[in-house]
Amino acid sequence: MNIAILSRDPKLYSTRRLKEAGEKRGHKVEIIDHMKCVLLIEKKNPMVWYNGKRLDYFDAIIPRIGASVTFYGAAVVRQFEMMKVFTAIESQALIRSRDKLRSLQILSRAGLGLPKTIFMDYSRDTEGVIEAVGGAPVVIKLLEGTQGLGVVLAENKKAAQSVIEAFHGVKTRIIVQEFIKEAKGSDIRAFVVNGEIVGAMKRQATREGEFRSNLHRGGVATVVELDRHEKHAAIEAAKKWDLVWPVLIYYLPNEGHLLLK
Ligand SMILES: Nc1ncnc2c1ncn2[C@@H]1O[C@H](COP(=O)(O)OP(=O)(O)OP(=O)(O)O)[C@@H](O)[C@H]1O
Ligand SMILES: [Mg+2]
Repeated sequence: MNIAILSRDPKLYSTRRLKEAGEKRGHKVEIIDHMKCVLLIEKKNPMVWYNGKRLDYFDAIIPRIGASVTFYGAAVVRQFEMMKVFTAIESQALIRSRDKLRSLQILSRAGLGLPKTIFMDYSRDTEGVIEAVGGAPVVIKLLEGTQGLGVVLAENKKAAQSVIEAFHGVKTRIIVQEFIKEAKGSDIRAFVVNGEIVGAMKRQATREGEFRSNLHRGGVATVVELDRHEKHAAIEAAKKWDLVWPVLIYYLPNEGHLLLK
């Protein structure tokens, strides 16, 4: 197959590993910078141009679109979809996943267990908001943030009120969420492809006082086997997402590679 990895940086570890894994399996893999793609939209003949050539020979794309360029990146992915090229992540799934509120609404509709969450207009009733999720401590999140940035733990009511007021004061939209203490700074990331779990890892925060398990915040990851309940939650979440949202191959910087089948 001819595969394009949409990535801005060929030197990135994840990009290099995806290329390596694809080539090992006999595919031709090219790294395409989505920000340099030009989209040609005309009647029945959508095309992507790149450095003066037509990208009309790809069978599949693997989007690695960073959070700062979601809009343009999703437009490039959509263009490939229109050209009937298979994508490992659909443009809709990409857009939905970047919005924490929208993601939670989709999962809530699917009847999956979620931390109690509040979203409000720039409310002055901060006390009411905190009470509604069961009182402090609470987690406060920017609607669009990733790698743990913009995710804050407010340990007590006073701190929570100040943080909510500060965000609202600068007209920044946030969600306020019940703090899941039992997680003890860990979470599980499962990869579902075609309705099947093909790999999972547990991420654990390591820094003193850190509750976010993101690797970018110093978390470490280990390969784990999921139990029945965890498998069910992951498969249902992926199914209810309603769209293609698999990760084909992922990587563990500390543990070697988690190669998915
Ligand atoms: N309600 C919560 N209770 C306990 N820990 C939480 C809670 N929400 C988030 N965390 C921790 O903080 C980390 C970051 O939160 P979250 O995944 O919501 O944001 P993100 O990683 O920045 O965004 P995204 O996952 O959308 O890219 C989680 O991986 C988890 O370890
Ligand atoms: Mg996260």
